[in-house]
Amino acid sequence: MKPWIHIALPKGRLGEKAYGMLKAAGYPCPAIEDPGRKLIFENPDLGVRYFWVKPSDVSIYVERGAADLGIVGKDILLEYQPDVYELADLGIGKCRMAVAGKKDFRDPVGQTLKVATKFPNITRGYYAGKCRDIDIIHLNGSIELAPILGLSHVIVDIVETGTTLRENDLQVYEQIVTISARLIANVASYQFKDEAVNRVLGCLEKQKEDVK
Ligand code: PRP
Repeated sequence: MKPWIHIALPKGRLGEKAYGMLKAAGYPCPAIEDPGRKLIFENPDLGVRYFWVKPSDVSIYVERGAADLGIVGKDILLEYQPDVYELADLGIGKCRMAVAGKKDFRDPVGQTLKVATKFPNITRGYYAGKCRDIDIIHLNGSIELAPILGLSHVIVDIVETGTTLRENDLQVYEQIVTISARLIANVASYQFKDEAVNRVLGCLEKQKEDVK
């Protein structure tokens, strides 16, 4: 009997796109298309089970083996450095990590720079590379408020369309890294369910080529 393959999808727009790719790649699951409040969906004919997971938690499920595979933004991999295999760049969920601030922002040279972010590790690494002394203010959302209310000088955050920055009179000052969604695998699953894992990987790679 073929082993089941468990796939953690990030709840939200990226997860919907990722499921669209998996469906087109030959891994449909009709139940997920009318989800209600359910979080687990399966297609027994294909032996595939999907979970909707908070995007920043996908790598935790995969690292600990609750899921064999997951779809996750590169930002999460850079921030948490989970012990997983990164199998493919899916070419979706493209955005960038950037430093942004108010339009009249000037770096207060000689003072500690106050930086608000959801990504303290990426932020620490970036400014360490520039030998800039910073104070990290770790927030969980609506980061753009911080410089407007004087909580921080700048933010380090994801910029996708740029709409949130624009509508709050903020602008990008420096780009840190480009981001896109990755297919990740649990280390043991990659070894012991290699056939199933490689089949999903191959189908997704082919699907990515087809839509190019
Ligand atoms: C993310 C990010 C920005 C916004 C960028 O926030 O933190 O706020 O999206 O997208 P844009 O450039 O297309 O406007 P998210 O929607 O995850 O909400 P959050 O503020 O709760 O983190």
